[in-house]
Amino acid sequence: MATDISSFISTVLNAALAADESTIKQSFTIEVVDDGFIFVLRYPNSLIMNTDLYFRIYDIVAAAVYPAYTLIRPASMQLVAREGNLSVSRGLFFPWKEGRSKRLIGSVDDILANSHDKNRIPIMQGIDFDFNKSPGIALTGNSGAGKSTALHYLLEVYAERFGTTSITLIDPKLSNGARWAKNHDGVNLVIPQPEDRPEDFLPRVNATLADAVREITRRQSELYQHVNTVSADYRSIGLKPRFIVIDEVASLAIGLKKSLLDEFHGLLTQISLLGRESGVFLTLSLQEARQSLLPTEVRSQMGVRILLGRIDKQSAQFLFPEMDSSFPLPIGGRGTGIISINDGEHYGVEPVAMPTITTNQ
Ligand SMILES: Nc1ncnc2c1ncn2[C@@H]1O[C@H](COP(=O)(O)OP(=O)(O)OP(=O)(O)O)[C@@H](O)[C@H]1O
Ligand SMILES: [Mg+2]
Repeated sequence: MATDISSFISTVLNAALAADESTIKQSFTIEVVDDGFIFVLRYPNSLIMNTDLYFRIYDIVAAAVYPAYTLIRPASMQLVAREGNLSVSRGLFFPWKEGRSKRLIGSVDDILANSHDKNRIPIMQGIDFDFNKSPGIALTGNSGAGKSTALHYLLEVYAERFGTTSITLIDPKLSNGARWAKNHDGVNLVIPQPEDRPEDFLPRVNATLADAVREITRRQSELYQHVNTVSADYRSIGLKPRFIVIDEVASLAIGLKKSLLDEFHGLLTQISLLGRESGVFLTLSLQEARQSLLPTEVRSQMGVRILLGRIDKQSAQFLFPEMDSSFPLPIGGRGTGIISINDGEHYGVEPVAMPTITTNQ
């Protein structure tokens, strides 16, 4: 199989690259390794091993090997060292997964039945992550892309694993989350009152976030007092994680006085920067992914980034600024898009289909 696929990739690349390199044949080899393949160019060569070539190869091969393999798009060119003569002692590495990841469909109990580490959140069959290692989840996508549905799934997971009291839910649009919280006592639900204007609601949101910051400070000093090892987190003193979930951050922030907004952004920034060790985690959804609505500091701290719905340069720009072309191949359908998990275990951006929960609990 490994030789089949490597000669297939060689043939495909020969055909596609022949236009810019008439003697491309024999000038490179494809080496299949455990979690991807390596493109080895034999020097001297008129092709230049740079980012351009890297993502050109990505584009050519990603479609050609799908669905036998799903290529993962790294944030930057992956140059790897190899044994051997200097003319071939480096290559371009392309990570992949065998087959394609499958959407999780079922009740939350069914989905969690196959996931035994309660710190790991299953996203697809073949994709999960530890929220302590990649703290903070940001979800963006156009209207109807599946943000609230995805948040509802995450709420179910947090509640099932750590109890409803671990959750603070801010839901300005009274969406799936707010309706779910009605039947889940213990959730700290922050929603607008019928007579609230936006400028009445945001101060309550800010007060809630300020509480979370105080909790972080309390937890930090407890950790300092009780733990003598240098590296530790909230789990070493027996604390549970806390999840601050906001559905539609943008709707909180549009058209409000700068002072209120600055306070809101300041609090989000503090939580995103300080929350990991003390176990206070943000989960945010945003329809309008614009700089003025979510500060860059918050965005760049998010361990898990998900873009659902329409994927193009413009929609990707905010959460995936490292990507301006060659998007992973989409899966298609409701609640699908791309995901990046920054935990040192995952490579880059891959296609995603968020879970479909079939029964309500
Ligand atoms: N993972 C999914 N599985 C199955 N259906 C889904 C999924 N995600 C979304 N849908 C369908 O798409 C509809 C719209 O999704 P959702 O309300 O989550 O979008 P949204 O991004 O929150 O939109 P808005 O920005 O308008 O709030 C849902 O009612 C549901 O029918
Ligand atoms: Mg929504």
